[in-house]
Amino acid sequence: MADADLAAVVRHSGGSYPLVAGWGFLEDLGPRFLDLGIKSPVYIITDSNVMNPYGRRVQRGLQKYGIAAHCFVIPAGEPSKSFAVVQSVYDWLVERRAERGQAIIAVGGGVVGDLAGFVAATYLRGVPFVQVPTSMAAMVDASIGGKVAVNLPQAKNLVGAFYQPQGVFADVETLSSLGKRELAEGWAEAIKHGFILDAALVDVFEEHAEALMDLEPEISTQVIRRSMAIKAEIVSEDERETLGIRILLNYGHTIGHALEASTEYGSFFHGEGVSVGMMGAARIAQQMGMISGELVDRHHELLRRFSLPTSASAVSGVSGLSMEGVLRAMALDKKVEGGGNRWVLLEGVGKAVVRRDVPKELVEETIKGLIG
Ligand SMILES: NC(=O)c1ccc[n+]([C@@H]2O[C@H](COP(=O)([O-])OP(=O)(O)OC[C@H]3O[C@@H](n4cnc5c(N)ncnc54)[C@H](O)[C@@H]3O)[C@@H](O)[C@H]2O)c1
Repeated sequence: MADADLAAVVRHSGGSYPLVAGWGFLEDLGPRFLDLGIKSPVYIITDSNVMNPYGRRVQRGLQKYGIAAHCFVIPAGEPSKSFAVVQSVYDWLVERRAERGQAIIAVGGGVVGDLAGFVAATYLRGVPFVQVPTSMAAMVDASIGGKVAVNLPQAKNLVGAFYQPQGVFADVETLSSLGKRELAEGWAEAIKHGFILDAALVDVFEEHAEALMDLEPEISTQVIRRSMAIKAEIVSEDERETLGIRILLNYGHTIGHALEASTEYGSFFHGEGVSVGMMGAARIAQQMGMISGELVDRHHELLRRFSLPTSASAVSGVSGLSMEGVLRAMALDKKVEGGGNRWVLLEGVGKAVVRRDVPKELVEETIKGLIG
């Protein structure tokens, strides 16, 4: 039977999996899991913010359908994406005598998803894995595409794998416990999806900005489905980031990451960095004659309506940003190739391209304008 909540299907070299988004369906996931062939028992990994109520709801919902679910709760926050926490999850799985055919279920944000996925990829050389993302970043980005990872003290996401889930089930209602700033930074990633690939989605954001910031159920769920579908399209075409398509998802990230890194990840939410970075990329594209000033203004106005920053100085608590620091962080960006940054720029709404020929002076002038 067709699933009315189905957003897209991701295709990959080993098969395919559904991306599903609905409103308030955490306690009804049992039949969907049974359809995927998930067997009892399963192992839920969640974090200390998400366990109550969401981890508990998933557990109850599965048990209603005869799937026993054990829960492991990690401390909330990025430091949990570590080998120490991975080891504690392995210990728990061994103690529980978890077997090869039994699934790990990630219930949480991107930290839980990346860590649980890494455990699923490695425990017994791989066990089934399902994502139940509860943050916007996880719903429209981290849970899709099979990248799983842990951090090393030297850098983020340094050790990982491509390991595809059996399915992704996003309950948009869970986002109602996020604060406004968290919600806005999440929408920044979805707005980015519109700018790079889907002009109609940008229109929807413009038409429904206030309803989306109020998390109005119907439109929010629709927009998240569309945004998941865009990520699905990209990762289905470029599963392992080898074809230069997946890089388009980095729109706004060259400057955004550099702002985050040069403030030691303490000032900007990721989506806020991306928001400022999209503004910078739009100005660069305009100066290079690729887009009109009108499209730059459209970026500004849309981001403003989501209370997203359009310059670094608009983010509260930001201090000590220097041109040298930002340029240094940009030079360390993972997307640097042959010594130069690969810039994702627009040629129009929904039309992103990669350019390596952005003049250094233009980059500096743009950053100067953004850090004020
Ligand atoms: N694998 C990928 O392709 C990919 C892509 C993007 C980001 N990531 C990773 O994702 C992580 C960032 O994801 P994130 O922003 O979700 O971080 P996160 O998992 O740390 O979640 C942010 C905070 O929100 C809390 N939270 C989650 N859901 C909530 C809810 N519904 N209500 C209230 N609080 C909630 C969490 O407990 C945490 O404190 C990073 O580690 C990043 O590297 C991975």
